[in-house]
Amino acid sequence: MKGSAMKKKRILSAGIILGTTALLLSACGNQQQNQENRLYIGVTYYNQSDTFLNEMLDSFKAQLEEMEVGGTVPAVTVRDAAGLQKTQNDQVKELIDAGCNVLCVNLVDRADPSDIIDLAREYDVPIIFFNREPVAEDLMQWDRLYYVGADAKQSGVMQGELAADEIWENEQIDRNKDGKIQYVVLEGEAGHQDSVIRTENSVNTLQQKGIALEKLSYEIANWNRAQAENRMEQMIGQYQTSIELVLANNDDMALGAIDAYEKLNYSETSRPVIFGIDGTDDGLKAIRDSKLTGTVYNDKEGQAEMMAKLAAALVSGEGMEDLPFENDRYLMVPYFKVTPQNIEELLGEENISPEANERG
Ligand code: GAL
Ligand code: CA
Repeated sequence: MKGSAMKKKRILSAGIILGTTALLLSACGNQQQNQENRLYIGVTYYNQSDTFLNEMLDSFKAQLEEMEVGGTVPAVTVRDAAGLQKTQNDQVKELIDAGCNVLCVNLVDRADPSDIIDLAREYDVPIIFFNREPVAEDLMQWDRLYYVGADAKQSGVMQGELAADEIWENEQIDRNKDGKIQYVVLEGEAGHQDSVIRTENSVNTLQQKGIALEKLSYEIANWNRAQAENRMEQMIGQYQTSIELVLANNDDMALGAIDAYEKLNYSETSRPVIFGIDGTDDGLKAIRDSKLTGTVYNDKEGQAEMMAKLAAALVSGEGMEDLPFENDRYLMVPYFKVTPQNIEELLGEENISPEANERG
C-alpha cells in the first residue's frame, strides 16, 4: 500500500516536472534557468512552406521528447527565416541570446553562412547545419561546425533506376512508339545541391540503363507544389500528350505535376509516368493511389535522429565516438527506394502522430 502510494506521488511529481519542462520547450529558456548540461536547441529553417522540412522537424521534436540529456528533456525553439538570409542571421543572434547551447541551421542561402559562423564562434555555440549543405571550405571555418544531410547523387541514381525499371516493364510509356522517351524535368531551387545533382544523375542513370531519351523541356519550381502545377500546365500546353515521363526533384513538385493533369482532365492513358524524391506523407499516399509512379525515401526520421544525437553529444560531451562521421564533420543518412514491399510500413509510420506515439 505504502509502496504504491509513494509510487503514485513520485509519478505525480514527475508530472509536475514534465509540465515545467513543457513550458520551457517554447523558448530556449533564459540564462538563469540554464542548467549546466541541459540541451537547449535553437533551430532556424529557410522557409515554413517546405513540406519535407516541416515533416522532418516534426520528427525531430518528437524524438527529442523521448530523450534525456543532463537529467531533463531537451528544449527546442524553432524559427522560420521566411526565405531571407538577413532574417536568419538575426534569428541566430536571438537564439544565442535566449541561451541555446546548440544551433541547428537550415541555411536560406547555402553559400552565405559566414555571419552565422562568426556569431556562433564568438559565443562558442556549435552549429549543426542540415539539409542545405554549405560548401566544404565554409564548414572548415571553425571546428565546431557539422552537417547532417544526405547524398544528392544517391537519390538521383535511385530515381533513374526506378524510372528505368518502369520503362522496361511497361511498353505503353513510349506512347508514340518512337523508341525514345520524351521527358521534362521539374527542378528545385537553382543553386541547391539537391537540384542539379539529382537531375544529372537521374538522367545519366536512365541513359546508362539503355533508355533513349529526348528532353522536351525543364522548369524550375523551387520545391513548391503550386509553382510546379503552374509550370507543368505551361509545358502541357506546349507539348500536350507528347510528354511521356516527368522527373521531379522532389515529391511536392511531382504532386504539382499530377495536379496539373487532373486540372486539365487528362485521361490515365494520356498521362506520363511521374517520379519524385522524398516520400512525404502526401507523396507516399499518391504512390499508394497509383498517381505517383515512384519515389525515393529521403530519410527524415534518420536525419532527425542524427541531429538529435549529435546535439546531445555536443552538450553532454558523451557519444561523439558512436556517430558515423564522414570527413570528421558530416553525418550522411542513406536514401532508399520506396517499393511495394516497404510502402505499407512507411505509411504506417507516417500515420502515427507524435501524440499517439507518446500515448503508446
Ligand atoms: C530537399 C528536399 C526538398 C526540399 C529541400 C529544401 O532535400 O528533397 O523537398 O525540402 O531539401 O532544402
Ligand atoms: Ca516516345
